[in-house]
Amino acid sequence: MYSIHAIPAVALALACAAAPAIAQDAGQTRSLAATCTTCHGTDGISVGGVPPSLAGQSRDYLLQQLKDYKSGKRAGTIMPQHAKGYTDEQLERIAGYFAAVKPGTAPSAPRAGN
Ligand code: HEC
Repeated sequence: MYSIHAIPAVALALACAAAPAIAQDAGQTRSLAATCTTCHGTDGISVGGVPPSLAGQSRDYLLQQLKDYKSGKRAGTIMPQHAKGYTDEQLERIAGYFAAVKPGTAPSAPRAGN
């Protein structure tokens, strides 16, 4: 017969078992999003707005653009190719990641040679 006191312990054990999976998920999403920051700036805040900043744009907007690039509905130079490399589920996670970043101003790029 289990005592009533065992229930919180079981709940805690289950919660702890789930925590590493969540942390791993967040790490994977960050890694996926990191592939975008080369062009779209650190955390998706681009220098001078080219290409557009991703930080703080709505998740639905970002996801729709990515799906449109992937399907060929929206034209582009780089993005149609890039978007094809991700599953829809990965695009959802990436869109959610950048939507959650607080938009800001990127530090200006260092000037070369002057
Ligand atoms: C090699 C550079 C490069 C990389 C890497 C890149 N982008 Fe882009 N992105 C662009 C360019 C350039 C545009 C403008 C459209 C075009 O020419 O393809 C753009 C446009 C976009 C737009 C449309 C923005 C708007 O305001 O409508 C979204 C959304 C976007 N990119 C998301 C992403 C995401 C998410 C990733 C990572 C999975 C990513 N990009 C990786 C260069 C890049």
